[in-house]
Amino acid sequence: MFELTGKVAIVTGAATGLGQAICVAFATQGASVVPTDLPGVSMDATVEKCKAAGAPEVFPQAMNVTDHAAIQATVAAVKDHFGHIDILASNAGMNKPMPAEDVTPESWDAHFAVNIKGGFFLAQAVAPIMKAQGKGRIIFTGSQAGVVARDNQQPYCATKGGIISMARALAYDWAPTGITVNVVAPTFAMTDLARKRLEDPVYGPKMLAMIPVGRFVEPSEVGSAFAFLASEEAAMITGQTLLVDGGWTIW
Ligand SMILES: NC(=O)c1ccc[n+]([C@@H]2O[C@H](COP(=O)([O-])OP(=O)(O)OC[C@H]3O[C@@H](n4cnc5c(N)ncnc54)[C@H](O)[C@@H]3O)[C@@H](O)[C@H]2O)c1
Repeated sequence: MFELTGKVAIVTGAATGLGQAICVAFATQGASVVPTDLPGVSMDATVEKCKAAGAPEVFPQAMNVTDHAAIQATVAAVKDHFGHIDILASNAGMNKPMPAEDVTPESWDAHFAVNIKGGFFLAQAVAPIMKAQGKGRIIFTGSQAGVVARDNQQPYCATKGGIISMARALAYDWAPTGITVNVVAPTFAMTDLARKRLEDPVYGPKMLAMIPVGRFVEPSEVGSAFAFLASEEAAMITGQTLLVDGGWTIW
């Protein structure tokens, strides 16, 4: 069940954190993996972990998701190399928390460029290939911050809420083509993105108290949600947001 044997999966923001865990989850289920991250950022650890997890092939690519030409070039390179692209995990993201009064137009634009615009144009680039195949899986990393408010993170929350709406709209348009489009929305995970805040002796326990399950999510648990939505068994699930939040949003 949930096998991905023979599939090819592109993952963005894959050098570390949740992106790395998504790559490993896909590899564990038998997919070949294309980890991508910013030029100059090492993906060696991800490549090694994917190989150890059993990926038939690992094909790392440097790609800044805000660079439209790089998106086109990467998708073309992956198609040339494998002949097909079955899964896109659009995961690259940034978050610079600050009071609303301090947000600059540049910071606002940067959040939108990385967190939502890049994912949209990557989805646009893989869609013709997936349509020709008659199937495909596009999965975005959202956040509980797209569903509930988080402190001092207005642009971040706006991008993550936007991803949910965007995924629904894409899912609707592409449903007849065999492409499903979904969102995995995690609670806090102890990655580079959140570690500094979660290790704060006041902020960390305050956030933990919001999670009924009583712990932060493990990156591998986010990876498992991606693997499920990427599988054949999830063919009837589209336009949905799967909250992997230990119950944060149920109360
Ligand atoms: N960590 C959490 O608590 C948490 C919770 C909910 C959602 N998320 C989301 O999960 C995703 C991954 O976050 P993470 O916690 O693993 O963070 P992370 O900082 O550990 O990893 C993010 C990765 O994205 C890459 N990246 C940044 N800008 C990029 C760009 N322009 N092009 C390509 N790659 C780029 C970084 O180099 C890095 O490898 C993000 O979308 C984030 O919003 C994280």
